[in-house]
Amino acid sequence: MGDTVYDVVVIGGGPGGYVAAIRAGQLGLKAACIDKEAKFGGTCLRVGCIPSKALLDASEKFYHAGHGYAALGLKFDNLQLDLPALMARKDKIVNQLTGGIAGLLKKNQVDAIVGTARFVSPGVVEVTAADGTTRPVAAKKFVIATGSVPVELPFLKFDGSRIISSDQAIALSAVPQRMVVVGAGAIGLELGSVWSRLGAQVTVLEMLPTILAGADEEMATATERVLKKQGLNFYTNAKVTGMKEIDGQQNVTFEWEGKALQEPADVVLVAVGRRAFTGGLGAAEIGIALDPRGRVVVEKDYRTSVPNIYAIGDVIAGPMLAHKAEEEGIAVMELLAGRAGHVNYELIPGVVYTAPEMASVGQTEEQLKAATIAYKVGKFRFAANGRALCMDEAEGFVKVLADAKTDRVLGVHILGPQASVLIAEAAAVMEFGGSAEDIGRTCHAHPTLSEALKEAALAVDKRAIHA
Ligand code: NAI
Repeated sequence: MGDTVYDVVVIGGGPGGYVAAIRAGQLGLKAACIDKEAKFGGTCLRVGCIPSKALLDASEKFYHAGHGYAALGLKFDNLQLDLPALMARKDKIVNQLTGGIAGLLKKNQVDAIVGTARFVSPGVVEVTAADGTTRPVAAKKFVIATGSVPVELPFLKFDGSRIISSDQAIALSAVPQRMVVVGAGAIGLELGSVWSRLGAQVTVLEMLPTILAGADEEMATATERVLKKQGLNFYTNAKVTGMKEIDGQQNVTFEWEGKALQEPADVVLVAVGRRAFTGGLGAAEIGIALDPRGRVVVEKDYRTSVPNIYAIGDVIAGPMLAHKAEEEGIAVMELLAGRAGHVNYELIPGVVYTAPEMASVGQTEEQLKAATIAYKVGKFRFAANGRALCMDEAEGFVKVLADAKTDRVLGVHILGPQASVLIAEAAAVMEFGGSAEDIGRTCHAHPTLSEALKEAALAVDKRAIHA
């Protein structure tokens, strides 16, 4: 690498960064990707999306084997949890995927550089390896994709064992008897579900009136109902105040409906959001503007206040989602290569991987009301979908929101089996400006879960067949 001046160097090897670097390679740019961890893949692959899904899928099977499969005529005697094996499988998947990224970077002629990057000038970063050695890396352009880190609460500081973030909640060595989750966002609900299914008594404390802030309220309420049935406790409008030892047991203290309450906790998972991570990058020193929340400020083309430096993903504004970062990574490289890169921020799907899953794309009813857009609603319950019944996963429903005048689909919200997969059809239709009638007139295979989306689209015009 020596005196190489790269066309572009991406700082951060998460889904935003490594995808950007691969696209740079595809576009013929001489590129490198720097990450402080030897395993590329960032939060998502190492301690986020992927390990949590490995745990969600395994714990769901365990839960069903213990609770639900009897209804299918399947009985298990002496069902046991082998937590070390479950964790080892998760680690194996992570290793397989991080190894895959190294291979993909190589295949696309991208240099993978391990070390922590710090700007010494707009054209050079100094990279410090784990052994403390440093070396300069020069590039015409840089893309910052350094991601985010968990937000800490001053009165519940992370200690890595009792008060933990998602980083540790995916790697507990034993099932806690009692777990308190602070924050009812995606992380709290997903990891709360994992440990609840594996046997913990889980209580979720949320400061806002509803869980899943920003979601369509009807969907959030329905999700809360389902999770309560599964045994999770919820306190909304709860003001958490700290930890207190009572009779040798640690308790989380909080105020709720004017009362001072406490909840015993062997482990407290604090999941109150994430914040942009630019620590040690030297961004401010070379004049890269940050907003009051510490996010890198960018123009529409992802350019920062320093002209040859760009930024994408969790470190800039917008939803902190791997797929949003990936789209931005591709867009920024296409723009750098003189092409037309673009991200449609109106149509970024969101999925909460509870059981059933809750997935959304487009606008919520609350957003449509606030914008005084007249809309029609079509709903269809999975209880009337043959395939969902066969799967014994008939909880939940599909909701399609369409423009009252034009019938254009404005939002789709799904609580139900495979909602994460079903939402992709809605996103594709909406990306093409499709109408509810377009979905309703498209032949969907029978018997499939996808028929629930078709029926909800037909229900917009009050002509669902099976309702
Ligand atoms: P979040 O922002 O989604 O939810 C945090 C929740 O904590 C909010 O409901 C908030 O009102 C609540 N909260 C904040 N301070 C509180 C306090 N002092 N006491 C009680 N509640 C409090 O953040 P989360 O779940 O930590 O996730 C971080 C980021 O990662 C989010 O942007 C999320 O979208 C993303 N993520 C996405 C996933 C997915 O798409 N499936 C999975 C995991 C994370």
